[in-house]
Amino acid sequence: MGEYLAGREDIRANGAVSYVMRQFHRLLQQWLPIYQKARFASTVLWATSVGLFTTGNAIALAVSAYLWQQQAITIGTAYVIFHYTNLLAQPIERIREELEELQQVEASLQRIQALLRVEARLPAGGDAVLPAGALAVTFEQVWFSYEESGVGSRELGVRSQQSGVNRAIQQSNDQKSWALQNLSFHLPAGQALGILGRTGSGKSTLARLLLRLYDPQIGTIRFGDVAVRQVPLKHLRQQVGFVTQDVQLFQASVRDNLTFFDPGIPDSTILEALGWLGLDEWLQSLPAGLDTLLGAENSGLSAGQAQLLAFARVFLKKPGLVILDEASSRLDPTTERLIEHAVDQLLLKCTGIIIAHRLATVQRVDRILILENGQMVEYGDRLTLQQDPHSRFSQLLQAGSTSMLR
Ligand SMILES: Nc1ncnc2c1ncn2[C@@H]1O[C@H](COP(=O)(O)OP(=O)(O)OP(=O)(O)O)[C@@H](O)[C@H]1O
Ligand SMILES: [Mg+2]
Repeated sequence: MGEYLAGREDIRANGAVSYVMRQFHRLLQQWLPIYQKARFASTVLWATSVGLFTTGNAIALAVSAYLWQQQAITIGTAYVIFHYTNLLAQPIERIREELEELQQVEASLQRIQALLRVEARLPAGGDAVLPAGALAVTFEQVWFSYEESGVGSRELGVRSQQSGVNRAIQQSNDQKSWALQNLSFHLPAGQALGILGRTGSGKSTLARLLLRLYDPQIGTIRFGDVAVRQVPLKHLRQQVGFVTQDVQLFQASVRDNLTFFDPGIPDSTILEALGWLGLDEWLQSLPAGLDTLLGAENSGLSAGQAQLLAFARVFLKKPGLVILDEASSRLDPTTERLIEHAVDQLLLKCTGIIIAHRLATVQRVDRILILENGQMVEYGDRLTLQQDPHSRFSQLLQAGSTSMLR
């Protein structure tokens, strides 16, 4: 349901409404018998309590009438007996309601327990501390696949003992599923790296590994001398800033969107960051400044503006490494100029990795990495590669766009 509601623009525009409604009806059909069962159980309970109550009343009335006839009690006592029996009705009703609620609670408890049993696949990390300031990045023979089964390093060890033919088949199968293959490079602290590659070549995947959203199956990633697995996750993610291709904004003020709801960051720091990034003019164009409310799903902001906000977010974190996954959509020249300025400012203080979709963006980096199907096909100093007429990079420059890669 959430997916359909979030994608309603695309669904309507592409005429998939009837498909979605059919899915919805199917969902309702699955839900109906369960609902009916639950209603039936609650009706049975209700009928039982009403039956009990009626029987109680009848007995009380009969006993009172009998005793009154025998002149054992007065009419007043008979009334009191009847009244007290009536008073019992309310607690019985409450018990029935509580029983119903208990059933719901039990179902919820089972779900919560199932959720708590889920274990993160990522080990929490050791207690190593990252060096302050810009971080050097090293990839050592990193292999990574999104498919969890069949590609674990332990299984790979087993496979290497298998007989020749089997192994060759396994390896060719494996090749299809690796998102990154045997990636090794070193980026010195303070330098900027530009990553180029076709769509699906593994650029964003590389960034996700640096943030430890996933762990590589084989190989090691280091910041300086410290392996990323040794660093506590929270500390690591404070030190690495990531501007994604598709920036998520929250239904909150510009301030909250920038600080991630951290009231400890004063407005002066936010304004300073925006000024440093050259965004103060942009801020003034917002109707209520930092208090301007943004909608969910980036409503009210263009993709470029959302990226600018994400820059400021990263800037407030003061990370040692900034990864920028450039938006592949076209930006208007003003926003593009603002973004370029912001990138320059960000890269002044830390190591940078820019996943570039436009050649103009990589003109500011020190090194270039070109990926193809998860493999590194070129890595080196930008100026050296630029001057080498046989390098992929200089061919791209001659062609004048990254479209050759696509
Ligand atoms: N969450 C995921 N689960 C499974 N496979 C994935 C996932 N994300 C990406 N992939 C696969 O991994 C490969 C690399 O994807 P990645 O997102 O890194 O490409 P990219 O180079 O960033 O492409 P683009 O330029 O379009 O952003 C692709 O084959 C893709 O299908
Ligand atoms: Mg990507």
